[in-house]
Amino acid sequence: MELLEKNEKLQDKASGSFEAKIERDDAIEPRDNMPEGYRKHLIRQMSQHAHSEVIGMQPEGNWITRAPSLRAKQILLAKIQDEGGHGLYLYSAAETLGISRDEMIAQLHSGKAKYSNIFNYPALTWADIGAIGWLVDGAAIVNQVSLQRTSYGPYSRAMVRICKEESFHQRQGYEIMAKMMSGTAAQREMAQDAMNRWWWPSLMMFGPHESESPRSGDAFKWKIKRSTNDELRQKFIDKTVQQAEVIGLKVPDDQLRWNEEKKSYDHGPINWDEFHSVINGNGPCNKQRMAHHKKVHAEGAWVREAAEAYRLKEEKLN
Ligand code: 3HC
Repeated sequence: MELLEKNEKLQDKASGSFEAKIERDDAIEPRDNMPEGYRKHLIRQMSQHAHSEVIGMQPEGNWITRAPSLRAKQILLAKIQDEGGHGLYLYSAAETLGISRDEMIAQLHSGKAKYSNIFNYPALTWADIGAIGWLVDGAAIVNQVSLQRTSYGPYSRAMVRICKEESFHQRQGYEIMAKMMSGTAAQREMAQDAMNRWWWPSLMMFGPHESESPRSGDAFKWKIKRSTNDELRQKFIDKTVQQAEVIGLKVPDDQLRWNEEKKSYDHGPINWDEFHSVINGNGPCNKQRMAHHKKVHAEGAWVREAAEAYRLKEEKLN
């Protein structure tokens, strides 16, 4: 029997079939054969990931002119620029699956495509910029480190590049929160208020519980996903609670307890009604985020047209 199995594996290797490549943990590349479901699953996830990076620039962009120092302004500008770049890597990676940038943007504008729940909350004070960097980018890192091992080559390589920059994002956010927590009473109160508002939506970023995740089965079968939403959420909680304690921030969950047996924290229930309401367009800022994206996309049309005209001219000359 073993010889037969070995022979089949060799044949599979020779044929380089999709299943054989997935089995061997080989990266699937744009030119490889792939099931239509795999392609569609990736287009959905990668385009929504890209949309999230770009829409995520809005809450932080509102604070560039209000940053409390030149250094803070420089760091925030660098972070926002990074996020725009992350969006471009991910749109380009998604385009290798045969969808155009225009189609992805049209899906975003029509509501057919989503972006991360987290960016539908307002950034009310400077402490929110700290909470976004520390909690939102912190959560994104946990998810994206896992995605470095996703089976689709262009996505995995984009994640490796993005994770390097996310670590700076998370550190600068934590530095803002640490500074405010060692500041005046008013600053400490501002930081705790931001923690109270961003903690639970950050946990929702990891997506529904596995049992409610309609696509998880395929995501694991095709090795798009390497860890469950709940495993990643737990990893984030266990790491972040300790960081909060070091700077004196209280996690807004009165059921949070260290579970010595599990060696991780038990936590209170997540408000999934809020999650579904926000991702279905009823969050505090959904309308504002989309209106702004549509306005700026229209205003930027001349740049795209000029770049296309230049490309066509160059093409004619060569
Ligand atoms: N926000 C918005 N929608 C979400 C969501 C979230 N956090 N989690 C799930 N959903 C949506 C899904 O899109 C799906 O809706 P659809 O059928 O209309 O597409 C529905 O809820 C059911 O979700 P799934 O069961 O399919 O969720 P998954 O198991 O696929 O997990 C995910 C969702 C964890 C977001 C996964 O898609 C993923 O890992 N995506 C890549 C990472 C990503 O997109 N991160 C966004 C943040 S980027 C960021 O934070 C930028 C940083 O630099 C600041």
